[in-house]
Amino acid sequence: MCGIVAVTGYKKALPLLINGLEKLEYRGYDSAGIAVISSETKNIVCNKAEGKLNNLKNNLKNAEIPGTVGIGHTRWATHGKPEVKNAHPHLDSLGKVAVVQNGIIENYQELKSKLEKEGISFDSDTDTEVIPHLIQKELIALSQLNLENNGSTLLVAVRNVISDLEGSYALAVIWSGAPDSLVVARRQAPLIIGLGEGEFICASDTPAIASFTKIILPLEDGEIALLTPLGIEIYDSNNERQYRNPISLQIAEQVIDKNNFRHYMLKEIYDQPEIAKYWLEKYLIKDLKTSKFQIKYPFDTKFFESIERIEIVACGTSKHAAMVGKFLLEQFSGIPTNVFFASEFRYSPPPLLPNTLTIGVTQSGETADTIAAIKMEIQRRASMGDESYKPNLVAITNRIESSIGRQISNIIDIGAGIEIGVAATKTFFAQLLSFYGLAIKFAQIKQSQSNETISQLISELTKLPPLVEELLEKHNQSSEKLAHEFFNIKDVIFLGRGINYPIALEGALKLKEISYIHAAGYPAGEMKHGPIALLDKKVPVISIAFPGEVFDKVISNAQEAKARDAYLIGVAPKCKGTEIFDYLMAIPSTNEWISPLLAIVPLQLLSYHIAAHRGLDVDQPRNLAKSVTVE
Ligand code: M6R
Repeated sequence: MCGIVAVTGYKKALPLLINGLEKLEYRGYDSAGIAVISSETKNIVCNKAEGKLNNLKNNLKNAEIPGTVGIGHTRWATHGKPEVKNAHPHLDSLGKVAVVQNGIIENYQELKSKLEKEGISFDSDTDTEVIPHLIQKELIALSQLNLENNGSTLLVAVRNVISDLEGSYALAVIWSGAPDSLVVARRQAPLIIGLGEGEFICASDTPAIASFTKIILPLEDGEIALLTPLGIEIYDSNNERQYRNPISLQIAEQVIDKNNFRHYMLKEIYDQPEIAKYWLEKYLIKDLKTSKFQIKYPFDTKFFESIERIEIVACGTSKHAAMVGKFLLEQFSGIPTNVFFASEFRYSPPPLLPNTLTIGVTQSGETADTIAAIKMEIQRRASMGDESYKPNLVAITNRIESSIGRQISNIIDIGAGIEIGVAATKTFFAQLLSFYGLAIKFAQIKQSQSNETISQLISELTKLPPLVEELLEKHNQSSEKLAHEFFNIKDVIFLGRGINYPIALEGALKLKEISYIHAAGYPAGEMKHGPIALLDKKVPVISIAFPGEVFDKVISNAQEAKARDAYLIGVAPKCKGTEIFDYLMAIPSTNEWISPLLAIVPLQLLSYHIAAHRGLDVDQPRNLAKSVTVE
């Protein structure tokens, strides 16, 4: 989704901005732009391009823009098509104020109409363009008070303008009247200030900062800041000056390297055995006295003992991981658990019940709906004033430095390393592992399973790294071949039951988001209640069938599809019953509890190869963003 980079300091701004924007490319965008205050003319020089960052770089190939203050942006279209006129930065009509913005200004129509009545004409269809016009208007009003042209004046102007904005945003503003100053502000959208040597860099996401500095000051919700080469002034929404110490960025320098893989997505699918090893080493600790394994979290889990139910909020792939989590927490640990789309939960939450654990699952830690749902839940629980209703929170994230990491202190770091492919693969796998950890922990607390059953699950998990390696070896080439046969299909149905129903949903999501082929996942038993009408020989059906309670049922559901001429692909161990499949993507036969961790791998590979074979932009599929920071 949109990305912001902004700098002020002593070094040339343009290379810093381009470098920062390169680090934000993975988030997904459809145009890009920069604006720099020229140190020679003191005018704003702006350049924008539709499409990839390379187009912007080509525009700027021979450009020498002397200037140390600038803003840059990658835009993911919300209001207005992905065209140059809608790309950021946006300027006021005098060309003196430039603004980049992430978020949505909900009352922009009203503000725009007022400005138009005053004679201001607009160049774009965006919500953002109202901001530079409003700031210029404020600056003109302030000049009548004989305020100096400096950063403090710009700060006042921006503050006055944002008080009229509705919605969520992060923005960065420069003004040719204060050529060393940068003003940034945020409301419900992330913005982080990096303290470099001789410069300040502000960005919407840490990768844009990590190569400059590891010392950061995250801006809190509602804050506004003035940055000049001499320092930073931060103010809260009541205009109180804020003083706090910088913190160090808790991520290793982001290594963004494809390691000879054709796409990041394939590399990330191949990272999964390492992620399993990391999880086992980090979270599974052997108690030296009892020789038993314990799940170890970096926070006190004593409060888990009083938990009677769990609610989980998440979006997209994270929600699918949460659904596997629900199955484990209910069926293995015996705790009633509900999973909600964060976007639904925030407007229609269930009635409050006591002794509830609320879990937010978000890879990026920045998904607007998930962050808002958690915030709302914290507020409504805190307002009950009853100890048993208090918010008990855990976050499962890949980005502990993100907004969710600042909202919730009990963090389960999935430790998957930065994921560049927009389609989540390794982070889904790592989120699943986090739920196995929670299920084991709760099963031990609630004694829902015998020690032997718990030990058996743990022992199966310890075998994961070689099993996943074996799956990758076995299925990479074969799914590439299968993809050749299927790259032209229009619809695919994914079926699963029980613990593997969410894997059917995730398999379908992976296929549609990167290959643009329509795919839908169903609980296998539901097919005959409607989706069966779609079946004919042109619609392949992919069934996940694992020996266990529902194996025979899934096989008979697959049989029903075969009777309608569907081509059947099975994701199952090679065993009696699986002869029915026209093509078997064989997975090892292990304990059914861990089957989702295996079944997802061939499905990821198949989706990847179909999209790659169709010649699509696998890592940055159209219209998608890595982290969805708007509602
Ligand atoms: O960062 P989050 O886990 O909160 O993101 C949630 C979804 O936006 C994300 O999983 C999305 O569905 C991905 N494109 C899935 O591949």
